[in-house]
Amino acid sequence: MNTAELKKELTEMIEKAQDTSALEQVRVTALGKKGRITDLMKTLGGMEPEARKEAGQQLNVLKTEIADLIEKQASMLKKQELDERLATETLDITLSPRPRKKGSVHPISQTQEELLSIFADMGFKLTEGPDIEDDWHNFTALNFPPGHPAREMQDTFFLPDDPEEEGERAKKVLRTHTSSVQVRYMTENKPPFRIICMGRTYRSDYDMTHTPMFHQCEGLVIDKNINMGHLKGCLMEFALKFFEVDELPLRFRPSFFPFTEPSAEVDIGCSREGGGLTIGAGDDWLEILGCGMVHPNVLKNCGIDPEEYQGFAFGMGIERIAMLKYGIPDLRTFFESDTRWLSHYGFDPLKRPNKAHRG
Ligand code: PHE
Repeated sequence: MNTAELKKELTEMIEKAQDTSALEQVRVTALGKKGRITDLMKTLGGMEPEARKEAGQQLNVLKTEIADLIEKQASMLKKQELDERLATETLDITLSPRPRKKGSVHPISQTQEELLSIFADMGFKLTEGPDIEDDWHNFTALNFPPGHPAREMQDTFFLPDDPEEEGERAKKVLRTHTSSVQVRYMTENKPPFRIICMGRTYRSDYDMTHTPMFHQCEGLVIDKNINMGHLKGCLMEFALKFFEVDELPLRFRPSFFPFTEPSAEVDIGCSREGGGLTIGAGDDWLEILGCGMVHPNVLKNCGIDPEEYQGFAFGMGIERIAMLKYGIPDLRTFFESDTRWLSHYGFDPLKRPNKAHRG
């Protein structure tokens, strides 16, 4: 009996078995009821006692060796099969991360930053004043005579009188324009100066293009020998930078404000072709601001000699120019605090205001 030959043969078969069912076949062939080793075991009965003892021992050793080899191969195959399954049956259990919740800058704040950066480059200083004004700063000093219809023109919110003050100073209003800040600055400072003021203003009005609270930006320049050419140059520079265009037709239309003479309203060129709105050369016009040369009466009321100093002023609605620049159709949505609106129209807090930088 040559167990060494058989061992070699069976070992080769075991190593060749590349999956568990092939290995099971080998096991049956070697150790099954009719297997090679089992068959040999059966021949032991007909042997001489001495030969049987020796052959029996050899066969037992072979049997355990083969069984061990089969078991080793089986666990190797199991591991291999598991590795294959793990490689093919993959499941991506990672979740895409939620977008980081971050606040955005409201278009009003963004536009104010842009205005500030443009006018600061032209040497304007930012000034502020109170939202609750008295009648003198909001109207009288600005050449609105008492009882003048223009006071009603602005749909003023009147507040109860202040018992600690007298006359026009006792009458309180929510400021209807930021021109009151200019009055405050002129009465407290000596010319020359260039200032802008920005802030909330209030008028009793509410529709697609009016809200009871809105924002204005006004500018004032007082110096010697100031004329409308300066006003025009200043506004031209502003409009090009603000709307980020190389060319922009400006139209000065005669208008009326009690505090400026002459007064004008400024339109910018635009095109409404194809239902959209494009700022720039076109055959249409859009009003963006009011302006004029400061009325001599206003200068006098604020203690400035109109013979020595002149100046120009301009004022605009911040929502209005923001709507034009950023294509926001309804003014009322600015103040609804709808987070979907804010994330759509808001600005990245880490970005600088997108002022156009020109040579
Ligand atoms: N105060 C004006 C308004 O509210 C705007 C304006 C400001 C016009 C300065 C001329 C000069 O409509």
